[in-house]
Amino acid sequence: MPSRSTKAGAPATPPDPAKLKRESAGRYLTGDGRFIVEQASGGWMVSDTEQTNELGLPLVRGPFATLDEARAGMDQARRGPAPISSLTDRIAAQRERAAKSAGATKSARTLPARPEPPPLEIREYRTGDGDPLRVLWQAAGFRSIGDDDASLRVLAQRNPGMFLVATRGGHVVGSAMGGWDGRRGWIYHVATAPDERRSGLATQLVRQVETRLQALGCRKVNVIVREGNVEGAAFWEALGYAAAPTRQFGRELPG
Ligand SMILES: CC(C)(COP(=O)(O)OP(=O)(O)OC[C@H]1O[C@@H](n2cnc3c(N)ncnc32)[C@H](O)[C@@H]1OP(=O)(O)O)[C@@H](O)C(=O)NCCC(=O)NCCS
Repeated sequence: MPSRSTKAGAPATPPDPAKLKRESAGRYLTGDGRFIVEQASGGWMVSDTEQTNELGLPLVRGPFATLDEARAGMDQARRGPAPISSLTDRIAAQRERAAKSAGATKSARTLPARPEPPPLEIREYRTGDGDPLRVLWQAAGFRSIGDDDASLRVLAQRNPGMFLVATRGGHVVGSAMGGWDGRRGWIYHVATAPDERRSGLATQLVRQVETRLQALGCRKVNVIVREGNVEGAAFWEALGYAAAPTRQFGRELPG
């Protein structure tokens, strides 16, 4: 572009980019139009239209106590590296934190998968099961005459294949005791450990006992559910058992 010349033909001095041009009271624009200098309550504020903050707004420097100080600030801005506003700092720090937490999530995802739980085993009652069974039954709210080791052994011997114990990793997690008296089948103490519930374990135990009873010729199976055991009742109903319009009577015999 040809340089402008004066009327006398002498080459024109290029406009001073730093020269402040008054736009209105307390508002100036630099010769090159890059900076807007405005008077604010705390001093002079300089908006840089060539540098924007992270929100895309002109980067603001200041407050400067005098116009000369504002000029020096603009000079420095022209010469120095891109300044970093506190907003930029905050956003950068925020991004760093986000990146770190994303990294942490990623490394958590790459952690080795948790080992599979040991398999569930359903087997017949064995000597030594008494104590863990009584713990399970106590948690299930059962308290019955006949839960001592000697009585459990008698029941197991008289009803082969019907006193079932479920274990996981060697720990007792479920039980069902079936009995056949020659007329009715009975199922007692159906219980599963709280963290094994609703996965079909009690159903499996009951169905196995039923299969065995059926094989012996049993035509009807009874269970006893205490008054108020709503969940127990819901379980038996789900398995096809109906509440009988009868009351149970019992008498303890001297041992
Ligand atoms: C009742 C109990 C044995 C159920 O054991 P479980 O292993 O969770 O039973 P299952 O997973 O085989 O449940 C089979 C169905 O019974 C019903 N059922 C089981 N628990 C239930 C509950 N708490 N509330 C409502 N329905 C229930 C559901 O229909 C269930 O099927 P779904 O899970 O697909 O809905 C167990 O909660 C327990 O040990 N309770 C304490 C002892 C007890 O009350 N025993 C029964 C009375 S003798």
